[in-house]
Amino acid sequence: MLLRTGRKGPIARWTVRVSKPPVKPILRCTAGARNKLMEDAVNWSARTIESSFNDTAITETSFLEWQSASYHSCLAHRLPQVRDMTRSSLRIDEPLDEYLTALLPEEPAVLVRLREETSRLEAASMQIGWEQARCMTFLLRCLGARNTIEVGVFTGYSTLITALALPDTGRIVACDINREWTGIAQKYWREAGVENKIDLRIGPAADTLDGMLANGNAESFDFAFIDADKTGYDGYYERCLTLLRPGGLIAIDNALWDGSVANTDDNSEDTKAIRALNEKISRDPRVEAYLAPIGDGVHLAWKR
Ligand SMILES: C[S@@+](CC[C@H](N)C(=O)[O-])C[C@H]1O[C@@H](n2cnc3c(N)ncnc32)[C@H](O)[C@@H]1O
Repeated sequence: MLLRTGRKGPIARWTVRVSKPPVKPILRCTAGARNKLMEDAVNWSARTIESSFNDTAITETSFLEWQSASYHSCLAHRLPQVRDMTRSSLRIDEPLDEYLTALLPEEPAVLVRLREETSRLEAASMQIGWEQARCMTFLLRCLGARNTIEVGVFTGYSTLITALALPDTGRIVACDINREWTGIAQKYWREAGVENKIDLRIGPAADTLDGMLANGNAESFDFAFIDADKTGYDGYYERCLTLLRPGGLIAIDNALWDGSVANTDDNSEDTKAIRALNEKISRDPRVEAYLAPIGDGVHLAWKR
């Protein structure tokens, strides 16, 4: 069974053994899934399953029904019990997920190698997935993007996918505070032959963006991808909106924050920041907005 428990979509395949009732679900994670993050995810999943059944016996049938209903955690919060096809999205169950995955083109080898190296880091789940990367490529091509901003580089996957979608004359201002992670990024940018397109700026992104504004770069960018510290999101959104040309697009990652935005019991600083920005963008007259339930949720804001 594939369970979407990570902030960036599926992070592991789980085997769930449900014996004859009354039972407790037993989750085992695959060989590659042994770090702390995975352990937390397993515990979280087990707790979620248990609390969903509220001490009633779990049968194979009732478990599968539950699994189907909560399979896509982002959509599950929004789907009514009886779906009205005109008002809600289709539930993505495992066969449909596999169908969609099979239609994706093969992930280029350099990106696979970067993902492989990143997977050895404890923070690996911060990286965006291939499906989301394809969506970004599509948007960049539709925009005819040439100049872009990246807030939050990590090991450089989203920057690399952006660089590959830009023309030879394209430029990315890539902001991050971490030299170690961006060192890995630079290695793969070189390998892909796109390092000339990427202007890596190490330092707090707010300062870098303020510097660009002070240098008269307002309204000169086509696209911005925001994927850094969540409490800084509102500030990055405002600065990027000024730096964008009319008709440019901002994509804000983790807009659903693993479903936490819809959990009224979750009032962590990160969740509150994302929730507040989602609400602000959805009513912002300066943009046309759409929160796409892809990956961990991507809030798209097109500048009028
Ligand atoms: C979620 S990761 C980015 C993932 C990346 N977009 C990818 O697809 O691989 C967040 C990054 O934001 C960076 N970051 C955190 N706070 C920052 C700040 N104040 N200014 C710039 N970067 C920051 C972190 O160092 C980290 O590399």
